[in-house]
Amino acid sequence: MPAFTDFKLHDITAGPQDPNREMLDMNQKHGTPDFFAGNGKFLTRKLWGIANQHSFGHHGMYTTMREAVFSHAGEALQSRKAFQSLSAYDQDCVIEFLKSLQILPPGTSVTVIHEGSSRKRQRVRQEQFNNRTMNPALQAF
Ligand code: HEM
Repeated sequence: MPAFTDFKLHDITAGPQDPNREMLDMNQKHGTPDFFAGNGKFLTRKLWGIANQHSFGHHGMYTTMREAVFSHAGEALQSRKAFQSLSAYDQDCVIEFLKSLQILPPGTSVTVIHEGSSRKRQRVRQEQFNNRTMNPALQAF
């Protein structure tokens, strides 16, 4: 099962002015110039299961995966440029692929609400991906 990461630290910021940098480098001795130089290196997050998350980036400030991809600079600049050079359709395909990277618990039988089948309409997916019976009042719609 690919994890879609190298589990390494990479500086994907564009330099000192990049808003994604951390003001302080907590891995340095406090009070030293290196400490105050800040940090731009972050653990490359595994993309496997990314669609189970609700916000992205080490600061959690990106509400969409597209924003997170567009924030890549530094060591990941070429990847971001490659993404940007794709057609709008192909960019959407990459995002849709990322959205498919979900971890579902064993036994999950329904991953989408199927509008056309009354049998399947009775089972909807909760945020935790556990199936539950739909409120009967809603089944009329
Ligand atoms: C097409 C290629 C790539 C895609 C689609 C992609 C996508 C993403 C996404 C969606 C995130 C947010 C993950 C999260 O918040 O859980 C992320 C984070 C990250 N990516 Fe990439 N990435 C790509 C290439 C790269 C490359 C080439 C590198 C390194 C050289 C890299 C390094 C990182 C790092 C360090 C983070 C964590 C950033 C943080 O915590 O703020 N990525 N990536």
